[in-house]
Amino acid sequence: MIGGDLEVRAQHSRVPPVDHPYVLAPYRRDGDDAVTRAFVAHHPLHIEIGFGRPHYLLDLARNLPDAHVLGFEIKREWVRAASERAQRDGLGNVRVIEGDARPHLERLVPEGSVDGIHVLFPDPWWKKRHHKRRVFTSDFTALIASRLVPETGMLVVKTDVPAYVDQVIDEATAAGLELRGEGSVDELLASLPRSHREKKCADLGVPFHMLRFHRMMPS
Ligand SMILES: C[S@@+](CC[C@H](N)C(=O)[O-])C[C@H]1O[C@@H](n2cnc3c(N)ncnc32)[C@H](O)[C@@H]1O
Repeated sequence: MIGGDLEVRAQHSRVPPVDHPYVLAPYRRDGDDAVTRAFVAHHPLHIEIGFGRPHYLLDLARNLPDAHVLGFEIKREWVRAASERAQRDGLGNVRVIEGDARPHLERLVPEGSVDGIHVLFPDPWWKKRHHKRRVFTSDFTALIASRLVPETGMLVVKTDVPAYVDQVIDEATAAGLELRGEGSVDELLASLPRSHREKKCADLGVPFHMLRFHRMMPS
């Protein structure tokens, strides 16, 4: 799932890549880096990593019509669903990229430029030997922090895995992020959309955590 040559992976999949105007494909060698860079040059800019069923992504775009909303997702079926539904719902401010968010965020998104990075219910990768696959490694958390607009830019994380909460807080703090909001008592967090997994947790009565971090001003 992670790593490898994205163009080769895309070509070898049995399901053809999604050819849709809302899908960006910066991994292509003929590339549309320029299109992706132009899309992320807009402000406000919000990015969701691992959107899965695209409830949160599309509701965020609906709630923030002046913002550009970029989603990353490894699974092609959700990339297709997001692009088709965004177009059907007239959400011209959405674009999606198939693949691992990490290399793209580093290569294509300028430092200090993102108003919100949203990571909802990241895969927990329970086994210790798989922990390195978690999104919140120290390297990737540092990369996320570097892409946020200082002070106002926020990282939003939701998870129903208690052990992951501590890890996220530790990694975020080490990356220079400050925890400024937690749970539904936080007005900003309460005003954000609900992801598919979040709705499922609510239906089943499974408790989950919501965290809002901000990048501290460089001193
Ligand atoms: C547990 S699901 C949560 C989906 C959705 N955010 C929600 O709350 O319903 C995690 C999703 O993240 C995607 N994913 C995992 N690692 C990723 C990465 N490095 N870049 C992009 N997507 C990723 C997976 O394919 C999966 O759809």
